[in-house]
Amino acid sequence: MNKKIFSGVQPTGNLHLGNYLGAIKNFVELGNDRNNHCIYCVVDLHAITVKQDPKLLTENIRETVATFVASGIDPEKNIIFNQSRVSAHAEAAWIFSCVARMGWLNRMTQFKEKAGKDKEKASVGLYSYPVLMAADILLYDATHVPVGEDQKQHLELSRDIAQKFNNDFQQENFLKIPEPLIQKEFSRIMSLRDGTKKMSKSEVSDLSRINLTDNKDAIISKIKKAKTDPMPLPADIKELDKRPEAKNLLSIYSSLNDVTLEKTISQFSGKNFSEFKESLIQVLVDKLDPISGEINKLMSNKDYLDRILDLGCEKANNIASEKIKKIKQIVGFN
Ligand code: TYM
Repeated sequence: MNKKIFSGVQPTGNLHLGNYLGAIKNFVELGNDRNNHCIYCVVDLHAITVKQDPKLLTENIRETVATFVASGIDPEKNIIFNQSRVSAHAEAAWIFSCVARMGWLNRMTQFKEKAGKDKEKASVGLYSYPVLMAADILLYDATHVPVGEDQKQHLELSRDIAQKFNNDFQQENFLKIPEPLIQKEFSRIMSLRDGTKKMSKSEVSDLSRINLTDNKDAIISKIKKAKTDPMPLPADIKELDKRPEAKNLLSIYSSLNDVTLEKTISQFSGKNFSEFKESLIQVLVDKLDPISGEINKLMSNKDYLDRILDLGCEKANNIASEKIKKIKQIVGFN
């Protein structure tokens, strides 16, 4: 079966190793398979659910495109576009917000995490954010959605919205029910400072993450400072449950080398962290240095990046405008 792939990344700066290993690396592999039809969206409407500096946002939209291309996504074979330029996303989000139930949104753990203690001060957009995500996916009849583990609950909501819309309006199979594509291992990369917390763009300490724009020196210094524990590396995978930092660093190494965690454990079992960190630095520099170099190069060619978006927006708009037309007819708008 030909897969229709849709996924999105927020242009909020600091794209990091978690975004790469949890999502973008997968986008590249899926995009290189000729049987797939892939659409990768820079979700700028999602970005403004928290305050953004307008000038920086424009730059971050370009930098996200540059990151996609530098990582190996071919903009000729795949659609790369930004959400705010295809108005069907905002229109569908409104309609789906009248389908989704408050109880469903109240269960979203990411809102609770992002809003923190002061929920009253969070934007309404931050709360209804998963509904916009459902609009993104359902407008393109996506069959598969590659994401990191943290987006699983949002995808389940997209499926619920699709099912309820089809039921409410008696339109069997009209909205396609998307399948999440979440890697079994390595779908949740953790902070370098605390192995129990997700690696995140919004974490204050830059030492907690490897940014995709980091150069070799930054990578070396961050890995050298990465938190570890006093014991040598284990021989047994079960031991890692009690050693989150060791588990995270070994997982990063495995994912970058495309090998299983078991294989990495047997390679480094009994060794100390300083020796392992040398190998980890080597693979990180080998894989990420070319990407950060290419991002820098592409960022000096803004016209090229803008042309990618112009072309992608036109193609995305052709698909989404047809779907929203049908959605509106079904709802009874004329
Ligand atoms: P965003 O921009 O937060 O993250 C982009 C992708 O990176 C993954 N990710 C991680 N994976 C592993 N370990 C981590 N530490 C880590 N941090 C982030 C995320 O799971 C995601 O796949 N709501 C989405 C964007 C979105 C979207 C969509 C995704 C909007 N519409 C439609 C799929 C389909 C988000 O905020 O991702």
